[in-house]
Amino acid sequence: MEEYKKLFSSEEITTRVRELASEISADYGDSVPLFIILLKGAFIFTADLVRNLTIPHEIDFITAWSYLDGSRRSGAIEMINHIRANLEGRHVILIDEIVDTGHTLSRLIDTIESHKVGSLRVCTLLDKPSARKTEVSVHYTGFRIPDVFVVGYGLDYRERYRNLPFIAELTPSLRESVRATDNFGKIRAR
Ligand code: IMP
Ligand code: MG
Repeated sequence: MEEYKKLFSSEEITTRVRELASEISADYGDSVPLFIILLKGAFIFTADLVRNLTIPHEIDFITAWSYLDGSRRSGAIEMINHIRANLEGRHVILIDEIVDTGHTLSRLIDTIESHKVGSLRVCTLLDKPSARKTEVSVHYTGFRIPDVFVVGYGLDYRERYRNLPFIAELTPSLRESVRATDNFGKIRAR
């Protein structure tokens, strides 16, 4: 059995996500906000968050990332799909699972604001303020964490560990276990 260095248990996450959902429900009670969700990492957080909202809302998805190779930082940002909804006048909440350098979000914020939105706020499950390279204003934060690489609850290391129900630090042994199974995805079933 793998030893996990847990930062937040499943119960702690559930409680915090409920709190965030009630805060957002209270703040947006008189509008129908549009959640723009950053894939892939925010998919589990969002699924839990929206199921705890008590207000009407809409969702859309976008893929953008700055980590191109495991946990190595890269300044380059790639965007895959584009926002389909008409953003003009909409109250937008951008959902990310973690804000690290801030590069991804600051680029996206510029793009979204250029569509003349009614308002824009950022909601993230995790924030690593000490890793910030670009200033980003984050309105809703689940937890602040130190500058360590974490996995679980949607967050991956080379596409692994997203399914963990808790959030854990990426330890050398978790890294090694990914390396050891690197080629397994390529072995074809007979
Ligand atoms: P930023 O542009 O540096 O803020 O990068 C943000 C993105 O990098 C996040 O949305 C994640 O997809 C990824 N990322 C940053 N830190 C971590 C981490 O500790 N674990 C997993 N992914 C991370
Ligand atoms: Mg992300």
